[in-house]
Amino acid sequence: MKSSEEGIHSASIGGIWLSCVMGFGGLRIRRGNLELNPKLPKAWDELRFPLVWKGQKLTVTVEKKGVTIANDGSSPVSLMVFGRSSRVEPEASVYVEKKTYEAVIFDLDGVICHTDHYHYLAWKEVADELGIYFDEIINNRLRGVSRKESFDIILERYDKVMREEDKEIYLTKKNEGYKKLLEGMTPSDLSAETKNTLMELRKRGIKLAIGSSSKNAGLILKQLGLEHFFDAISDGNAITHSKPHPEVFQKAASMLNCKAENCLVVEDAEAGLKAAKSGGMDCAAVGDAVKSILADYKLSAFCQLLEIVR
Ligand code: BG6
Ligand code: MG
Repeated sequence: MKSSEEGIHSASIGGIWLSCVMGFGGLRIRRGNLELNPKLPKAWDELRFPLVWKGQKLTVTVEKKGVTIANDGSSPVSLMVFGRSSRVEPEASVYVEKKTYEAVIFDLDGVICHTDHYHYLAWKEVADELGIYFDEIINNRLRGVSRKESFDIILERYDKVMREEDKEIYLTKKNEGYKKLLEGMTPSDLSAETKNTLMELRKRGIKLAIGSSSKNAGLILKQLGLEHFFDAISDGNAITHSKPHPEVFQKAASMLNCKAENCLVVEDAEAGLKAAKSGGMDCAAVGDAVKSILADYKLSAFCQLLEIVR
């Protein structure tokens, strides 16, 4: 109205609020939860906006390196900031720093692809042959754990003592059954979401590695058409301690020439989360692992990594 120096045209106020708060402030309401994923334009030092969430008055202040949420209400407020769960007590404030990661280290089975189910099927066949009870819940304990240690967990329900040489026979049998299932894998077993997320992370200049306890990692990556994709592959062939020991991730970080604190690990296993934390790395959980208190981030979709690593 020939008057922009006098302020904002009232018909545009709603749109301006949306672009500031939901755009640069990154506010979303997902499954009834308040989330903030702010990103300031380079030329801005600060963005501040008031908000009423479930009756509580909040003030959000976004700065270049982090966000402060002040709660002027009378009840605590829980929300997700940069993918991390935060809680602001009444008449208090919290500051959440935006972390920047140089590298992402992915577990393979159950993260990049669904070979975790093939592990289950192959173990189920061995367990059935031995008359040992085995189900998907017990299988969860085998995630991230080496083949031999996995069998020891299954044998907890065996009423006899198995000789070491017999164990070797069943370990070979399990691996043969598992490899048969792997033979049927093709690049179409890599979901479009996983593929696009990996490509986008690569485009952003993030170093990408595999940190897997599996001795079959090379074969799986080949089947998926990813054998030349990752900057480093640290797998079960080169480690002496399986997860929850951090060795596999520490090896990956050193292959990438990255410090532990600059790496983010993505895991579907409690053992893997423990390995990441004891190696000094942050971790994002997928699948059942989101229930773990060790998870710094809980992903309900793989592509959410793009909100954390940018
Ligand atoms: C991990 C799986 O990735 O690799 C475990 O989560 C598995 O379940 C381990 O036991 C070892 O795999 P592999 O292929 O060497 O038998
Ligand atoms: Mg796994």
